[in-house]
Amino acid sequence: MIMPMPTPHDIPIAAILAGGLFALFLMGTRPAGAADAIDPRQLENFVLQDCGSCHGMTLKGGLGSPLTPENLTLFSHDDLVSVILDGRPGTAMPPWRGIVSNAEADWIANFLKTEGPRP
Ligand code: HEC
Repeated sequence: MIMPMPTPHDIPIAAILAGGLFALFLMGTRPAGAADAIDPRQLENFVLQDCGSCHGMTLKGGLGSPLTPENLTLFSHDDLVSVILDGRPGTAMPPWRGIVSNAEADWIANFLKTEGPRP
């Protein structure tokens, strides 16, 4: 009786397949990791441009209230993160969830609380 024995060259093929799957796995996970990375320069620009379109280009107020550290003393860090992510229902302040990640909202809240826009 003839048994289908694995020939020696079957083993490298299996190894290559496994390696390929592992590479696909790495490729699949990398973009998610990159999306969590914070790019402060890009975020600062985003805040000044996109938030600035309502809060003023220097964030000192426009349609939206001033986003200066002095004006935000009554807000905790978490208050700011939730206003940024969920907006203010019934006002022009839109929700940014999906546009900014949680980590980015965290960075923006910190930026507004501490550094704020330059004069
Ligand atoms: C389409 C206009 C608009 C845009 C764009 C906008 N906001 Fe607002 N935002 C408002 C308005 C209007 C209010 C005041 C809401 C109210 O009356 O309670 C507000 C309120 C806020 C508040 C609460 C401050 C306070 O004193 O009530 C924070 C914090 C805030 N915005 C952050 C941001 C950030 C950060 C961005 C950018 C990611 C942004 N906003 C983009 C319109 C906007």
